[in-house]
Amino acid sequence: MKYRILRNNKYDFTGQSYGTSYPNLHRYPATMIPQIGIEIFKELNIKSGKLLDPYCGSGSSFIVGLDRGLKEMEGFDINPLAILITSAKFIKINPSDLKENVSIIKDKLYKYTINNEIDVKLDIPNVYNIDFWFPEQSKIELAIIKSLIFTISNENIRRFMMVPYSETIRESSYTRNGEFKLFRMKEDAMKKFNPNCIDIFSAKLDKAIFIYENYYYPLLDNAKFNFGYSEFPKKEKYFDVVLTSPPYGDSRTTVAYGQFSTLTNEWLGIAYARKIDTMLMGGKIAKEKYSKGILSFYINQIEKESPKRALEVSAFYYDLEKSIIDVSKSVKKGGKIIYIVGNRMVKDVILPTDQFIAEKFEENGFRHLLTYERFLANKSMPSLNSPSNQTGIKRSTMTKEYIIVCEKPFGIETLVVCEKNKKLYKTNKKKKNNKIS
Ligand SMILES: C[S@@+](CC[C@H](N)C(=O)[O-])C[C@H]1O[C@@H](n2cnc3c(N)ncnc32)[C@H](O)[C@@H]1O
Repeated sequence: MKYRILRNNKYDFTGQSYGTSYPNLHRYPATMIPQIGIEIFKELNIKSGKLLDPYCGSGSSFIVGLDRGLKEMEGFDINPLAILITSAKFIKINPSDLKENVSIIKDKLYKYTINNEIDVKLDIPNVYNIDFWFPEQSKIELAIIKSLIFTISNENIRRFMMVPYSETIRESSYTRNGEFKLFRMKEDAMKKFNPNCIDIFSAKLDKAIFIYENYYYPLLDNAKFNFGYSEFPKKEKYFDVVLTSPPYGDSRTTVAYGQFSTLTNEWLGIAYARKIDTMLMGGKIAKEKYSKGILSFYINQIEKESPKRALEVSAFYYDLEKSIIDVSKSVKKGGKIIYIVGNRMVKDVILPTDQFIAEKFEENGFRHLLTYERFLANKSMPSLNSPSNQTGIKRSTMTKEYIIVCEKPFGIETLVVCEKNKKLYKTNKKKKNNKIS
């Protein structure tokens, strides 16, 4: 396969953030800014069909789908917090029902702050080392809020309220702000730390309702969704488009999605909350190094420095390949996949994950249409990581990201990208190039 990458500054979105288009309801690591998806859908003229995001995180792909007029979408992620955020954004709730329930809860919380009484049974869940992570008062207030949320009979409203509740959990714990991994504050900061969970929750709830009502709810008419906190369950030839930003490495040495979500998942009662990072792609070390295709050269380079790191890195690519095989089968003929990914560095070796993705889709019956390179100015990522995995040796993480588009051919017709003007053209054997965008 002849593989080329086109630098395309249209996709940099310099100076823009996630919130410039559709603000998120909850912080999440390594989100994809919706602008990228919206622009590539316009360029590829995608306006209808069924959309899949097999590693959907906080659900940015679905706002892209809704913005472009798609009405049927499915999303999966092993991390329950990811599916909680996604469901809250896209499951339709009448805003007046939501506000009515909110005012009942706020009333009860207000009465509690006045007379210290509450008429619900408190349930403090099994959070590992809870006193290490939470001040005593936070434990009580978080338990009160949760118990009140659980008095709401409407499941969708309950789920929605758990999102600002989740942010409240993090903010009223001793975790350091601005970190994705679980690090505790310094002793000095802990002594001064005296959060009021009820005020934090009320403010976050108001903000979440504002965002939902103004940005998400207006697009939800006739939209059908299916979400699950599991790996993507295979479906034969079902989807027209896959839009996703997969992890770019295992969670332990890249982005710790599980660790970021641990406290919420524990308060939600997820028994395996502390194991999630090992369940995600590349979470378990491989028995043999990955030695196929483009990746083998790079893994061999890493192996020269550290055979153990070569096996750890291999584990991620075995899992990504397996997932691509399943995703390939689930796409209809004529369907497209759009993967947005960064290339990480391990032992000073930059791993070409973009090319790996294109190669794997080609092996599974797809045709690589294009790869765009964009500069990464607006992704919520840890700013430094350790390419050598040695404490103290840090490099800035990736500065570029790649948008990979492949198509499952219909027949003889296909799309090609013109290197000069970066426009897409349809080609077939009879007619020459028909410009389509
Ligand atoms: C880069 S994030 C996706 C972010 C998302 N596009 C957003 O904007 O919020 C990658 C996601 O992949 C999930 N993940 C990792 N391995 C997975 C697997 N085997 N199956 C499903 N999801 C997985 C992680 O939990 C994480 O949420």
